[in-house]
This record gives sequence, structure tokens and C-alpha cells, in this order.
Amino acid sequence: MTDHAPSVAMEAVLKPSCPLSEDMQKIRGYDFNKGVDLQAVMDSYITTGFQASSLGLAIQEINLMIEKRLEPVEEGETKEPDEYRSRSGCTIFLGYTSNLISSGVRESIRYLAEHKMVDVIVTTAGGIEEDFIKCMAHTYLGDFSMPGKELRLKGINRIGNLLVPNDNYCKFEDWLMPILDQMLLEQKTEGTSWTPSKMIHRLGKEINNTDSVYYWAYKNNIPVFSPALTDGSLGDMLYFHSFKNPGLVLDIVEDIRRLNGQAVFAKRTGMIILGGGLVKHHISNANLMRNGADHAVFVNTGQEFDGSDSGARPDEAVSWGKIRTDAKPVKVYADASLVFPLIVSQTFAFHADKLTADKTTE
Ligand SMILES: NC(=O)c1ccc[n+]([C@@H]2O[C@H](COP(=O)([O-])OP(=O)(O)OC[C@H]3O[C@@H](n4cnc5c(N)ncnc54)[C@H](O)[C@@H]3O)[C@@H](O)[C@H]2O)c1
Repeated sequence: MTDHAPSVAMEAVLKPSCPLSEDMQKIRGYDFNKGVDLQAVMDSYITTGFQASSLGLAIQEINLMIEKRLEPVEEGETKEPDEYRSRSGCTIFLGYTSNLISSGVRESIRYLAEHKMVDVIVTTAGGIEEDFIKCMAHTYLGDFSMPGKELRLKGINRIGNLLVPNDNYCKFEDWLMPILDQMLLEQKTEGTSWTPSKMIHRLGKEINNTDSVYYWAYKNNIPVFSPALTDGSLGDMLYFHSFKNPGLVLDIVEDIRRLNGQAVFAKRTGMIILGGGLVKHHISNANLMRNGADHAVFVNTGQEFDGSDSGARPDEAVSWGKIRTDAKPVKVYADASLVFPLIVSQTFAFHADKLTADKTTE
């Protein structure tokens, strides 16, 4: 029996390394012997690895967007018509899927709208109506496993582990129908051309409730785009209204011009996109019109193996010209309900003093 391990195994296992740069981040997490310090825990994420590091990078990238946003836009730097003139050094587009408004992420989003910390919002129909419905009645915590048949018999709707009584939608109908009548009247008598963004602006005015994201978007003149506004309870109401009092028209062409203009004429742009589907693509496509966003942070659970846009990594958007080739985009693979409040705490809320210094609501 030989007393040497086979040289082939020794060479394979003990293969020497090329030196790594000393500048590289060293992996080290938070030491709880230092006490419970949530700020220090957050600070340690970037050197923790895996999605913790991605979250740390996303926070860095959003803080860069904020820094650029605070830079003044000099006269003549943008040559666009006033309608599209961005007043910030970096126009921040925020997109989120409907379920995030159903969840408590709504309160983080409302904070951003309330303090005018983002410039453009894109969401889907549920992301609009659920905000107004929550001003009328509550959404409750249930369980993912609650059986659909039993819930249906009780008139309770389930969104993941959230429960929304069907009565909430009846209250929404009672509130919405007279507003739709009035909008139709204005269309007929004053020639108002309604678009989804103008309708959301109007509903934000009518709700007159400081809990609402779109109340603040209305107050602060933040445009909110939702090109598939009919794919939710709002669509059901528009459908019923089209029998009761036909003729209301929503023009999505006017809105795409307005949305793309926000990207085309901006000095710089940053995209913060929670979830996939329409919101992810609609914002990214608007940024194609300027040959790509300067900054991008995606937070979603989508995977790319199926070729979906929802799961596509930012590098796919670089290939389409939706993110600039010199940008440093970040994707965080996570449920946004876990990470977005943390992101806000380390970015917009962290820099609230600077961001709200000379803001007055319009
Ligand atoms: N509350 C609701 O969810 C609701 C209510 C009414 C209508 N709708 C309608 O359903 C349609 C589909 O909804 P949608 O386009 O808003 O998104 P979606 O729910 O279909 O999600 C799209 C993708 O986003 C990602 N995603 C979703 N939730 C996430 C999370 N919490 N964290 C990280 N990633 C997440 C996933 O990859 C998902 O496949 C829309 O037309 C919408 O109006 C939804």
C-alpha cells in the first residue's frame, strides 16, 4: 500500500489560485454580538452574498438615481415642449403589479407619491382600483390554503393570503358610477378626451383621502399610466356603464405619447420595477425611445428559462436598447412585499430631508 495520495487527485484538489483583487468585497454578515441594530444589519447585506447582496446593490443604484435626481436641470438642457419637461435631474419611473397595492406595500408606494419622490407611475388595473377600494373598506389577512369553494359561497375573494369581501367591490361601484356619468357628460359637452391617466388623475381628486396613492399622485401631479385599465373591477364597471349610459371613450394613444415623452425628454432616467408583466415592459419600452434607461432596478420572482419578459434579466433589456449599455442594472430575485419596504427605508425615506427640501404640493 502506498503512503502518497495519487498525484492526479492532489493536483486536482490543491490547484493553486490566481490572486483576486484586494478591492473586491469580502463576504461577511452581521454579528449579533453587537446587539440588535437593524441599520447595521441592512448595511451588512451587500457583503452577505446571494440575494442579500443584490438587495444591497439595488439600494446603491436607487441612491444613485436619487443623487442624480437632485441635480438641477439647466435651462436648455432639455428642448422639449413644456408638457414633457422633466423638472428633475433623473426622472424616476416606478412600476408595480396590482397585488402590491392589495398588500401593505401600498403604504410604501403612497409615501413615495405623497412626498413626490418619483416622477412617473405605471401599474395594472388592480393596482388602481384596489387603492380606491381600500379607502372604502378593509382587506384582511387570510391564508394561501383557504379553499376557493368555501370562500365563493361566503362572497369572499382571495389574493394570495389576502381576503377581500365582495361587498368592497359593490361599494366601489356605488362610488364610481356617478363619476363615470360626469366624465361622459364632460366628454359630450366640453369635448374632454379621456385617457386612462386622465381618468386616474380625476379619480385621485374625487377620492379626496390621504390614504390613497392616487390622491397624492393627483395632488403632486405625478402621471399614472395603466394602458390595460379595463382588466380588473374598473373594466367590469366600465362594461356595466356602457349599457347604462353608453359612449365613454378612453384613448390609450394619447397616453403612450405622454408616457414616452416622459422618457424621451428626460435628462436621465431610472426605472424601479416591482414584479413583471405589463408594468415591467411598459416602462422599459418607454425608455427604449431614449435609447435606454440610465439606471434600472428590477425586483421580481420571474425566471428567464421560459423566455418570458417577466423573468428576463436586465441584460435582455440591454439587447433591446431599453437599458443603456453602460448602465449597472440590478435584479433582486425576491417577493417585493419582503424587500420593497426595506429598500424605501434605505433610499427615499433615508434621504427624505433632501428630497422634500423645497417641495410644495400643487
Ligand atoms: N390584486 C390583483 O392582483 C389584481 C386585481 C384585479 C385585477 N388584476 C389584474 O390581473 C392582471 C395581472 O396582474 P399584474 O400584471 O399586475 O401582475 P401579475 O400578478 O400577473 O404578476 C406578473 C409577474 O410579476 C411577478 N410578481 C408578481 N408579484 C410579485 C411579488 N410580490 N414580488 C415579486 N415579483 C412579483 C411574477 O413574476 C409574476 O409572474 C392585470 O391585468 C391586473 O389588472 C389583478
